[in-house]
Amino acid sequence: MKIYLIGYMGSGKSTLGRKLAKHAGMQFIDMDHYIEERNCKTVPQIFAEYGEAGFRERERKALEELSDFTNVVIATGGGAPCFFDNIDLMNRTGKTIYLNIDPKILAARLMQSKTERPLIKGKSREELIHFIDETLKKRDGFYSQAPYRISRPDIEPEEILSMIGND
Ligand code: S3P
Repeated sequence: MKIYLIGYMGSGKSTLGRKLAKHAGMQFIDMDHYIEERNCKTVPQIFAEYGEAGFRERERKALEELSDFTNVVIATGGGAPCFFDNIDLMNRTGKTIYLNIDPKILAARLMQSKTERPLIKGKSREELIHFIDETLKKRDGFYSQAPYRISRPDIEPEEILSMIGND
């Protein structure tokens, strides 16, 4: 089985993914870390050197590679399902779960976060809230193509596994 966790930056994909993988005896992969290792550069470096388009190409390549893995939980980058036909590739090759978290909670978490995220770097609280609202409008159509949706970040792994079935 392969599980893809998708959702906005700060929705808790990596935290939940790690917990879920541990519980289910599966491998956990954070897609941004995978991209960093494959390219020997950090995500901010990739954005700075090749722009967002260059990052999206590398992200797509990483997804193609990861789609061949088995027994793995993959926490994808927030924009990953929204470019090329990435969401179709995920749905074809695994079980895709959308972590749908309230934008106010996302903004609060992202303001606190120490992870450097090029798309929101240097934004004030108000600018961040506006940016989240705008991008979510564009991304919702992609995120909603996941067959499963979770709105509680504190959900237990058992509940997720019984929701998606075990095949
Ligand atoms: C991005 C989300 C980030 C990372 C990159 C772009 C996005 O991942 O892939 O900074 O477009 O939403 P996280 O969702 O893990 O922060």
